[in-house]
Amino acid sequence: MMATAKDTPQPDLERRLACSDSHAAGVRDMFDRIAPTYDTLNHLLSAGIDVRWRKLAIETLATRPEGPILDSCAGTMDLTAMLAKRWPNERIVASDFAAQMLEAGKQKAPLAERIVADAMAMPFDAESFAAVICGFGMRNLSDTRRGVREARRVLKKGGIFTTLEFFRPMSAATKLFHGIYGNVVLPTVGGIISGDRSAYAYLTQSMQHFVSRPEYEALCSAEGFRVTSAKDLTFGIASLVVAEAV
Ligand SMILES: C[S@@+](CC[C@H](N)C(=O)[O-])C[C@H]1O[C@@H](n2cnc3c(N)ncnc32)[C@H](O)[C@@H]1O
Repeated sequence: MMATAKDTPQPDLERRLACSDSHAAGVRDMFDRIAPTYDTLNHLLSAGIDVRWRKLAIETLATRPEGPILDSCAGTMDLTAMLAKRWPNERIVASDFAAQMLEAGKQKAPLAERIVADAMAMPFDAESFAAVICGFGMRNLSDTRRGVREARRVLKKGGIFTTLEFFRPMSAATKLFHGIYGNVVLPTVGGIISGDRSAYAYLTQSMQHFVSRPEYEALCSAEGFRVTSAKDLTFGIASLVVAEAV
């Protein structure tokens, strides 16, 4: 049987779900700083494999009800651009608290709305979206639970919440890969190209200290979602969690 986040007190889990507000300000400043080189590094460091992950994530929204789609923690708007291409007649909104990230990506989806906002307190009405997608953003939030709760608030019943993320690795092989890649490749290459080694060291830490995929699924279930699909991609390097607002 799947464990739920509220079965037993889990101080370690609580620590991985939430941290301080100063952390949030630091994360926002960091993303604003690395925005100019973010795309170059992203595609170099993932060897382009993220494009396949993103396509899979977008397709999970095909069965959503009628209505607008929100790309939360949209960054430089790669997912926004794919959404706009896939559903050109739909209202697409890209939201992120780092204005420079949205600015760097705005030409990819010129018709999408851009909103600078915190994913834990968004300026949108309740039940105003048919789908929310979040790519590699949830692990950066200072309080993951608040982020999931906010996604549920803005979604109408039956709406879809898709999370594409690097969760804390579980298997020995994935731990080894994340360890070598995250501790050596990411800070070294990221540091050379962006000139900000600490930013890329942070990104590694954010993966290693985040919740595992099963823990995240339990969190979604506890916050008003029914997890309809959850799977690991490319040997568990990334994962996709799809949940329906109930
Ligand atoms: C690793 S980037 C991912 C960007 C994009 N979704 C993608 O798939 O490439 C994480 C993004 O989350 C944003 N972010 C982190 N915490 C946030 C928060 N509390 N509210 C809004 N955006 C946040 C960062 O500014 C950054 O643009």
